[in-house]
Order: sequence, then C-alpha cells, then structure tokens
Amino acid sequence: MVKENHKQTSKSKDFPEDVARWRILLKTIQAAFPSPWKEEGDDQIFEQTFLNAVGQLNQMKHPRMYQEQKAWQGYLGDPALPDYSCCKNVKFEEQMQSLPEVITELVGFFNGMPNWNHPQTMCNVVPPSNTASIIGSTLAQIFSPNILEGEYSWNIAKTEIESGAMLAQMIGWDPHKAGGIYTFGGTGCYFYGLKLALTTVFGKDSRFKGIREDGQILVSREGHFIKETCSDWSGLGMNNVREIPVDEHNRMDINALKKVMADCKKEGKPIVMIVCTMGTTDAFAIDQIAEVRKLIDKYKNSKRYPKPLLYADAVIGWSWLAFRSYDFEKNSLQFSKKALEVLKYNYEQIKPLHHADALGVDFHKTGWAPYNCSFFITRDYDTFSELLSRPSPAYLQDRTPYNPFKFTFETSRTGSYAMSGWATLRLFGHEGYQVLLGRIIEVGIFFRDLLHKDKNLVCVNPDNHGFVTLFRVYPKHIDAEKQYEQDLNDPRCQDELRAYNLLQQRVANKLFAMLRDPEQKVPGWENPPYTSFTSGYRPPEYAPEETDSRNLIYALKAFPMSPNSNEISMQIVRNYVLKARDIVIAELMQEYTPEDEILASKETDSGSGMRTADNWFGDNQDIPLKYLVPSKDADLSIEEMVKNNPFCSHLSDGQVRQLLAESNAKSIEAGEVICAEGEKADKVYLIVNGKVKVYKTDSKGHETGLAIIEKGNLFGEMALFDKGIRSASVMSIEPCQLYIFRGDIFLELVLG
Ligand SMILES: Cc1ncc(COP(=O)(O)O)c(C=O)c1O
Repeated sequence: MVKENHKQTSKSKDFPEDVARWRILLKTIQAAFPSPWKEEGDDQIFEQTFLNAVGQLNQMKHPRMYQEQKAWQGYLGDPALPDYSCCKNVKFEEQMQSLPEVITELVGFFNGMPNWNHPQTMCNVVPPSNTASIIGSTLAQIFSPNILEGEYSWNIAKTEIESGAMLAQMIGWDPHKAGGIYTFGGTGCYFYGLKLALTTVFGKDSRFKGIREDGQILVSREGHFIKETCSDWSGLGMNNVREIPVDEHNRMDINALKKVMADCKKEGKPIVMIVCTMGTTDAFAIDQIAEVRKLIDKYKNSKRYPKPLLYADAVIGWSWLAFRSYDFEKNSLQFSKKALEVLKYNYEQIKPLHHADALGVDFHKTGWAPYNCSFFITRDYDTFSELLSRPSPAYLQDRTPYNPFKFTFETSRTGSYAMSGWATLRLFGHEGYQVLLGRIIEVGIFFRDLLHKDKNLVCVNPDNHGFVTLFRVYPKHIDAEKQYEQDLNDPRCQDELRAYNLLQQRVANKLFAMLRDPEQKVPGWENPPYTSFTSGYRPPEYAPEETDSRNLIYALKAFPMSPNSNEISMQIVRNYVLKARDIVIAELMQEYTPEDEILASKETDSGSGMRTADNWFGDNQDIPLKYLVPSKDADLSIEEMVKNNPFCSHLSDGQVRQLLAESNAKSIEAGEVICAEGEKADKVYLIVNGKVKVYKTDSKGHETGLAIIEKGNLFGEMALFDKGIRSASVMSIEPCQLYIFRGDIFLELVLG
C-alpha cells in the first residue's frame, strides 16, 4: 500500500524524478496529520477521516452474526473473547502503513467490547460518556495541550480552574479558596491526599529528609484497596494502614475509630490521615464524615504533630451533591414518592462532604465522562500548593499566574481530563445530574419490586440505594426471601449457603455464555443483558469475620448506568436470570454427580490464564441435586409432585392436568395390600401422603423387604415398562392417600 502511495506520489507533477525518496514519503506523513493551516480541502481530509473512523465504530453496533437482531446486543462487533496468543508475534513494520488501513485495524480492537450505552449493559459503575465530554477530551487530543498550565495552554487551563470552582460550589466550599487539579483517576486523587496529609503533619521538611515516623492512615474496612496502593507507593508502608470495622450500614464504626485513635496516641504513632469513604460500588458505604470531623477537632496527635488530614474518597458518591439545589418538597422533576425518599436520603448522606479537607471526584465513574478524568480538590488551595511546591524552579517558566506544574506529581498532564470534566459539568448542571441519578433510583426501585414479586428472586441490598441492585436467584420450589434469610442467618445451613452461592455463580456464567458464546445462544433468548456477579458481597450475619470465600454471600449484580436503561431493561434482566437458572439446573440434572462426591470435593483452583465464556465469573462446580429440585417432603401441589418425578418432569402442565383428570384418588389404612406380586400391572400410583413398603414373599411365606416409598413418589410404573406383571407386592405402612393412574394413559403421555 505504501509502495503504491509512493508510486502515485512519485508520478505526481509536484515531484520531479530526482526528488529524494524521503521527501516523497514526507508528503504521505504530512497527510497523516491534521492540516497545519486552513486551506480549502485539507482540513476536510482530517474531518472526514475522523468521521469515517467514528462511522466504522458505529457500524460495529450491528453484529455481523445476528443481522436479524440488529443493534440489540450489548457488545460491539463479534462476541469473541480475548485471545492474546499472537500479540507477541506482531511486527514493527519496515514501511509505513496507509492511514485508512491503520484506522480500520484500530477500530477492529473494539471487537467484542461492551457497548456501555446499551440499555442491557449493566455490569459495573462504568457509565457511557456524554458527547460533550467525548468531544472535549478529543479536541484536547487534536491539539494536545500537554502540561495543563499557563505556559502552553492557558485557556485550556481555565477549564481546570473553573471545574474547581464549580465543584467547590457543589461541595459548599468557598470557590475562591478551594481548588484542585485534574489527575489520573481516583487513585491519583488519593495519592495527592496522602502527600498533602504527610506534608501537613510532618512538615515541609519531610519532603527533603523523608518520612521517619510510622504515620498512620485510618480507613474503614470497606475502603477501596488503593489504601494499600498509596501507602505502599508513598513509602509509608502498608502496615501503617489501620482498618476500622464497619457497622450494619457498612459505615466506619465511630466507636471503633475512637478506640483506634486512642491506641495510636498510646503507641506514640501520629495519625496522618483519616479517610472517609463516601460511596462504594456494591455496598454504597458512606461514612459519617461529620462525626469523624468532630473526633479530629478534639484529637491531639501524638508527639505534638498537627492534626490529621480528613480525606474523603468521594469518587463514587460525589455526584449526589447535585441535589444541593433540589427542593425535595416541591419535587419539580416529579420523581415518584419512593424514589424521592431515596434521593433525599442519599443526598443527606453525602451533603456533609464539606467537612473534608480534601477529596477526590471521578468523572469517569458517576460523572458520565470518559476514562480517566478525576479531580483532586482541597478546601485550601493556597496551602496545598505552597506546601507541595518544588524547592527550585522547574524548567518550565511562569508565564501566567497559573502554574500547577510547580507542585503536581505528573510532569506531563493532558488537557483531555480537564476538557472532558469541564464539558460534563457545563452540560449537565445540577438538573442533568438530578435526572441521571434519579433515573437510576427509579429504575432500581422498579427492579426491586420485580424481584420482590417473584418467589424465586430476592434483593440482597434492600437497604442501600446506590448504583447497583444485588440479588440472588433460587430454584423454582424455593421461596427466595425465606431461603436467603436462612443463608444469611443460620450457621447450621452453611451447606445450603454454599450450594446456592454456586448456583449464583453458574447462573452468572450461563448469562455470560449465552451472550458471548455463539454455540450457547438459546433460540429465542439470544440477547441476554450483560450483568455481573460478586463472590464476596458480604459475610453472613453469624460470621462477620468470615474469610473462607465459599461462605460469603454471592450475588448477581445489575448496574443500570446507561441513560437508556429503563423498566423494560429490568424486566429483561429478570426474565433472563430465571431462564439461565432453568438451563443451569437442567444441565446439572443431566450431569448428575453423586452428592457425597460433591461434598467431598475441594474448592477448585480457577487456574491461570484466560477464562472462557463458560467460567467467566469463576469455575462452575457441581451442586447437590437436593438443593436444586424439591425434596419429596416439601409441601408441593399434586401437579408439582407429578412433575417432580423423573418420568414426568418433561410433561407440560396440560399433560399433567390430563393425567390427573384421568386418575382416581383413594385413601387407605395402614396394612392394606395395594398390589400383589404376579398380578397384571396396569396401574401407576402416586403417594400424596403416607408411606408404603415394597416386598417379596417366598414359597414358604417369608417376606423380604425391598424398599420403603414415601410421599411424593410414584410406584408401580416399572412394571408397565417391564413385563406387565408385578414383580413385588406393595403394602401401606401408614394411612395413605394415593392417586391411581391408568397404565395405558400414563404410558401414552410419558412416551409422548
Ligand atoms: C471507592 C473507590 N475509590 C477509589 C477507586 C479507584 O479509582 P480509580 O479507578 O479512578 O483510580 C475506586 C474504584 O475503582 C473506588 O470504587
């Protein structure tokens, strides 16, 4: 291709024959950049190329394999899972590739990627990006305002300053005093928080001499694992993180915090930072920051060090601040009564965020902006910048009054973060966020109602209304709410908890396989939602410190982050979950493994390397059948009893009704012979109540017991398939209620 270009250009009248080849190639290279100045036609090449790439990407929303269900699947292009086996064989080519070819290849990398905008894509707090933010971020890439400061990109820098002002207003801080910087994710924000904390407590000098004290970080057990990343990377050390237990609302236990603060004092260890987690993905844990502030205000750090910094990890929860201006009485957006209560509650939890000294905001999570785009903000920007300023001038020069390069961790800093964050704040304003968040709550409430109405489904996070609904599905004969209550609270039922945990995992895998594996597409059920799964939502009530992952509560998860997810999306989730459950149980019954083998089996190692669609969420393990199909003792309807027998489980409800309509019900006393050895076998019996014994009698009249058959079971059917003559006798050993079927009708229906 490049050679062709070469040929074409070398023939061009612009280039005489004796022009050096590099000059000719340079022409191709120049054409691979946006035009340097406005000339009719040149700018349009870039614009068209860009549009064309976006067009190619959009085409991938129409999967090739299922043309008839255009634009419905929640992923782009082919469903294929990753295969990295050939990546190391890629060649760094000798010659240039053509631009269109490279673009087509680039677009190809999006194959299989979830389409986050799709209403059925609900697998995490990963929002689709709004158009203003995509464009903001992309425009910044076109002119690449590297180093977000005054030297090169002074107007782009305004988006950072203005974002700080808008966020300060949301928080309730003075925008003239507060401010911050865009950085690399919630982790970057935490890292800035820790650096500020260390410098506040140990003084500026510590930046030269190093940290010589075991400064302590106090953070809730529910806090994100970046507590370890940041303490590790800062050199403070992970052992200096003290995890505080949580209360029943997953909030840091204030009494426990008090005690740890007192312990630190006794041990002579200064606390550098207390972190309040303001929203987590699953539990939506929100710490009581006002209480923590009071404790800090009263606290005297050991060795007379200054007070610890109060950092709020608000990357998930921050956007609820948009309800600051909402009049919940007037309810101008007309949210439903139930939703309004939740919205108000969530806002009230987040509102005291202003007590923090500094906090982190993720636009790429609950801001509906592209990855990654985070803002670290502190209430006292001048102190922050002064404390962290470089000791000697950087090689960059102050050309404007705005020079964050003097204290940022990053040297190069993209303008994309700031442009997309700013665009998002401008686009949505308070009301946009109110609608986006309100919609999640409305849809979530609708889903929870659906779960509640279904006997086999139960919501496991009914008390928290964040971005996700966690739920469990149980077999058809199980009342999900009762069973979950038991799974959660009864230590004697740990085997059941484990069995139903494995069922959740298998259902999650099945949904994923139905979505991703063309061979596992179920006719009529080709478009499953992309939901998620956790194998560690919470410990059971009776073992709060449980560490064996098999005994934690597993759950399916649905995050309707897309603004397109609505009530219908949630109905689809429910239906697919039930369908996947049915398929899983049917498969398990076919692959039946004796239960003692299952119970003896150890937890299997998920192994290394790539997962397949079959075990995306963890290895599928066998589950004892007794947990999946009704026990014979269960209080079943007659119809269910019939269907619960292996001969009859395939019968339709209509066929079962027909069978029952043709039967006789009979009550008998204990000790009655129901059928005798040697007789013609022309009836089949269902024990609705009571017990019978099956026995043979020899020529001397000695009896040999063969079996006891209990309520819910059929007997007599074997003789129909065999010789038509009873090979044993059956006698009631308790008063019995029987349903007696005519053998010919029974056979006809069973054999189809
Ligand atoms: C509560 C919380 N804090 C921090 C982080 C880390 O943020 P980021 O991924 O933007 O670095 C996450 C999630 O990933 C989180 O859920």
